Formats: sequence, C-alpha cells, structure tokens
Amino acid sequence: MPEKVIIIGAGGHGRVIADILRSSGREVPGFLDDHATCGPDTNVLGKVEDAPRFKDSAEFIIGIGDNKTRMEIAERFKGVLRFATAVHKSAVIAPGAVLGEGSAVMAGAVVNVGAVIGSHCVINTSASVDHDCALSDFVHVSPGARLAGNVTLGKGTWIGIGGAVINDVTICPWCVIGAGGVVIKNLDKPGTYVGVPVSFKAADR
Ligand SMILES: CC(C)(COP(=O)(O)OP(=O)(O)OC[C@H]1O[C@@H](n2cnc3c(N)ncnc32)[C@H](O)[C@@H]1OP(=O)(O)O)[C@@H](O)C(=O)NCCC(=O)NCCS
Repeated sequence: MPEKVIIIGAGGHGRVIADILRSSGREVPGFLDDHATCGPDTNVLGKVEDAPRFKDSAEFIIGIGDNKTRMEIAERFKGVLRFATAVHKSAVIAPGAVLGEGSAVMAGAVVNVGAVIGSHCVINTSASVDHDCALSDFVHVSPGARLAGNVTLGKGTWIGIGGAVINDVTICPWCVIGAGGVVIKNLDKPGTYVGVPVSFKAADR
C-alpha cells in the first residue's frame, strides 16, 4: 500500500502535483501552507512548521515553484521528512534516467536516456530534458522549455517558460533564463539572462 503524500504549498503548483499523485493512485490527504490564500480544492492541514507531526504517516513533496523557497524548506526538514517523487502518467522517463527525491515531472514532459535529475527539481508541463543532461538540486525547467543533449544545469537554476538550451552547454548555479530565452554558450555568472540568444540582464537577487 503506497504511503500518503502531503504537499507543502497549496498554490497552483502544489495543486498540479496533487492532481499528478491522485491520478496515479496515491492518496493526498492535504496540504501544509502558511498563507490563508490557498487555491480551491485544498484541504490545508496546517502550517509548514507542522510537517514533523505527520512524518510517520506520510511522505511529503514541496509543491512550490520558486527554487530558493523549495530549497529552504527542503533544508529545514532534511533528515526529518521523507520526500516522494511525482511523475504524471503521460510523462516519459527513459529507463535508467535518474530522478532525485522530492522531484516532480509534469504532464507531457520527457526525460531522455542517461539524464540525471537532482533532488527537489521540477520538470514542468511538456518540458524536455534530453539525453545525458545533468540537473543539480532545486532546478526548475518551466513548461515547454527544452534542454538538448548533454546540458548541465547548476543548483537552483530556472529555465523560464519556452526557453531552450543547445547541446553541451553548462549553466552555473542560480541562473534565471527568461521566458523564451535561448542559451547557446556556457553561463558562468549567476543572474538573469534574457533574449535570443540570451544576454546578461541582472545580478542574482
Ligand atoms: C526574466 C524574468 C524573470 C525577469 O523578471 P523581472 O526581474 O521582474 O524583470 P522585469 O519584468 O522588470 O524586466 C526587466 C527587463 O527585462 C526584460 N525582460 C524580462 N523578461 C524578458 C524575457 N523573457 N525576454 C526578453 N526580455 C525580457 C524587460 O522587458 C525589461 O527590459 P528593460 O529593462 O529594457 O525595460 C521574467 O520576465 C521572466 O521571463 N520570467 C519567466 C516566467 C516563467 O517562465 N514562468 C513559468 C512559471 S512555471
């Protein structure tokens, strides 16, 4: 009997993860969220700090799209909570590809052979991660974004919606690639990059 999964974060991203888990037969008793303004159809069980109360009866997944926030929560509960993965039934994950704990793969996404996805990553709706890519922890590949083969993404990097990265490129930790941005060279400096091809916009916040 698979364990229940409680979702930390009751906004849109968390609700998408709840749908993925429920449609694959897992029970989601509810959400933990510090804010009163939660989305519809959310059964909020308590605040984030309440998570350890449920640790013996459920696994957890952090349903928050912002990479830094996801990292802060994961680090706060490291070694305390057990983290589940969530993979939509329409996603394709090649045999042998690796998906770290707490990571989510949304509908229509593809993770190809030899890819290694770290912990607490998000491969969002219809994104693709091609062969032999290596994604560090807390990476987010937004809807429709494309990584060609052998791309390396550093910790916490966010590829915006519809972005693309050509093959063999390495992007350092904590970069933001704006919506529709195309990366054709290695990026060695944390910060925000936009355009086609991308250019540096602003230093990391
Ligand atoms: C790149 C991004 C993070 C910048 O956000 P921001 O820091 O609030 O920046 P602003 O909106 O103030 O824009 C700053 C400048 O960058 C430009 N810019 C912002 N995003 C851009 C983009 N995707 N492509 C080209 N230019 C962009 C703005 O036109 C503005 O230019 P200016 O300084 O010449 O006026 C944001 O625009 C973006 O693309 N986010 C991705 C959203 C996404 O993928 N969501 C999916 C969630 S699952």
